Amino acid sequence: MIDVDLLITQAAQVVTCSGEAPKRGEAMRDVGIIEHGGVAVKDGRIAAVGPTQDLVGRYRAKETIDASGRVVLPGFVDAHTHVVYAGDRVAEFELRIGGATYMEIMAAGGGIVSTMKAVRRASMQELVTQSRARLNSMLTLGTTTVEAKTGYGLSTADELKLLNAIAELDKTHPIQLVPTFLGAHAVPPEYRSDPNAYVDIVVEEMLPQVRTWYEQSHFYSQHTPFFCDVFCEDGVFDIAQSRRVLDAGRAYGLLPKIHADEFVNLGGVRLAVDMHATSVDHLDVTPAEEAALLATSDTIGVVIPAVNFHLGSCHFADARGLIDAGVAVALATDINPGSAPCPSIPMVMAIATRYQRLLPAEALNAVTLNAAYAVGLGEELGSLQPGKLADLVILNTHDYRHLAYQFGANLVDMVFKHGRRVR
Ligand code: NIG
Ligand code: FE
Repeated sequence: MIDVDLLITQAAQVVTCSGEAPKRGEAMRDVGIIEHGGVAVKDGRIAAVGPTQDLVGRYRAKETIDASGRVVLPGFVDAHTHVVYAGDRVAEFELRIGGATYMEIMAAGGGIVSTMKAVRRASMQELVTQSRARLNSMLTLGTTTVEAKTGYGLSTADELKLLNAIAELDKTHPIQLVPTFLGAHAVPPEYRSDPNAYVDIVVEEMLPQVRTWYEQSHFYSQHTPFFCDVFCEDGVFDIAQSRRVLDAGRAYGLLPKIHADEFVNLGGVRLAVDMHATSVDHLDVTPAEEAALLATSDTIGVVIPAVNFHLGSCHFADARGLIDAGVAVALATDINPGSAPCPSIPMVMAIATRYQRLLPAEALNAVTLNAAYAVGLGEELGSLQPGKLADLVILNTHDYRHLAYQFGANLVDMVFKHGRRVR
């Protein structure tokens, strides 16, 4: 008998989502189900996955959990978030109900800039306190890993404050955070008349200090990847400015990500493919020829339907077309105060299966294995495979498809991070 720390037995389904690379096309319909399954965990990692009968004959555990009638699956990876911020934008929500659009509010000096003002006023500790409450909700809904962007500071000191808040949350919250520098999220008011001067600040002043911050952080010693992102959009940063920021980021070792095609198609997918970006995110108005190009690349396409939903739009990214074209698609919440105040990956799956015609299996692979690759951690987590980190969720249902089928309820029963029960 082999000694392990934890044995989960008798699950109606162990849904492994296993794979050796991001899933595409037909493979996205395969979630790797083991009926009457179990999982063995040792030292925070998965020791074995298989039929319960095989595992109980081979492993002796300090603790055993009988998951009869329930489903075990990987913890969700939320691959695109702006979870660290202060305040809210509930007044803008009412303006939009009255007919104003997201981009009109932004052009009038609201939107990202109004959250910037709240973030500049807040201390690092206030940011941590407010964001911890959101991470608690996310954990309750089954999320165990979160990409977290800066982008509401828009000055060197305030962007560093956000990075420090991200590091503090990673150290003190069960959810694992992956940092992204998004200094190029909006042009702050003080540079409104000269956006290129702000790009100079991002490239020449922020990035060198952000690199130093990374080297001194625990993320660096733990080999957590560090990303650089840009909001490539009409009226925000154009293609040339986006390329300049991402090139400079890469020179400092930050891996590229891009917000592209959320409202206007500027060619962000071409830029992402050209730069071998880890992901290109939103893709609401991506033309078919750019989807075909994306399918030839290693860049993950991150689709964010909670934004369309929150903005009251009936237009969604053509995620069905992206998958059929061969793009490795992930889904994320984008939790932020303006376009998606949503902590829930199951809610995102509910929207994607209805309005984007993804099957529950496709949606599940998109929030587990593919999402893990979208944050550079596909070799470490995102599926239940021996050797990977034991991040897993137990659902109060006998069939994983209920995760997308039911909505507005929380089916998550237990959550484990690195083999430790955290909820
Ligand atoms: O992904 N598009 C840019 N950033 C966010 C919105 C941020 C905000 O409105 O505060 C997004 O939609
Ligand atoms: Fe975003």
